[in-house]
Order: sequence, then structure tokens, then C-alpha cells
Amino acid sequence: MDQQQYRKLIHLAIQARERAYVPYSDFSVGAALLTDHGQFFTGCNIENKSYPAGLCAERVTMFSAVAAGYRTFEALAVSGWKRGREPENFCMPCGMCLQVISEFCGPEFDIYIVKNEEEVRHLKLKDLLPYVFDSLDR
Ligand code: THU
Repeated sequence: MDQQQYRKLIHLAIQARERAYVPYSDFSVGAALLTDHGQFFTGCNIENKSYPAGLCAERVTMFSAVAAGYRTFEALAVSGWKRGREPENFCMPCGMCLQVISEFCGPEFDIYIVKNEEEVRHLKLKDLLPYVFDSLDR
């Protein structure tokens, strides 16, 4: 990923957050994913009055990329905080999203946690999910 792609990824994650549908938590999350082919996908969390039916931004993003035919990815950016407030903490992906990410991405996969365009924390998937479940015996 070059500098321009990096900037775009961060910007898209922040922008995607604005489309979050969060009437129940008021916590909006945006995500942006860069494929190995250079395409960008974005997503946001979408809640539901039947709470468990809602979905996190990371999974919306990854599932829409996979549904569009992409399975190899370079980097993911995630940006989340309470609507109408300044971000205070870095919003980490939840365990279920990390499990889904691990289905398609290896331990060295780059994840960027975005507070704003300037404050970004870079982690690898293995930092966030060091002991990943894998049903294959390898
Ligand atoms: N959420 C995400 O979108 N991604 C995560 O990794 C954690 C949580 C959403 C789910 C719910 O809509 C809101 O944040 C509050 O939990």
C-alpha cells in the first residue's frame, strides 16, 4: 500500500462512519478495506430493533468485498466512536470481527485503528488475535 492508498483508506473509514445506522447504541463505526487488486470497500455498523440481528462495520465491509468477488486483502481501517462526540479512545474490532477477518487474512494483515486523520494506530491481525481458532490441523 502506498502513501496515497493509505490516506484514502483512513479517509474512507472516517467517511463510512457517517452512514452508520445506530439508533440503539449511538455508537457509529466505519471501516474501509483495500483489496490486493487495489479496490476499496467500505461499510458501517447497521443495527436492528432485534439487537443481535445488527452487524458490525468490519463484517459488513468484508462480506461486501467477498460478495463482490474479492478474497485477498491488504489492509483494513476502522474508525468508531459515540456519535456527536470527539473520539477519546481507539476503537478496536470485536472478537467476532477478528474471527471473520482471520478467515481471509493471515497474521501479518495490517489493521489501522483510526481516531482521526492524524491519530492512527497500526496493528497486525496477530496482535489483536494471537491465538486464532483454526479447525484445520496444520
Ligand atoms: N461495533 C462495530 O461496528 N464493530 C466492532 O468491532 C465492535 C462494535 C458496533 C456494533 C454496535 O452497532 C455498536 O458498535 C455498539 O456496540
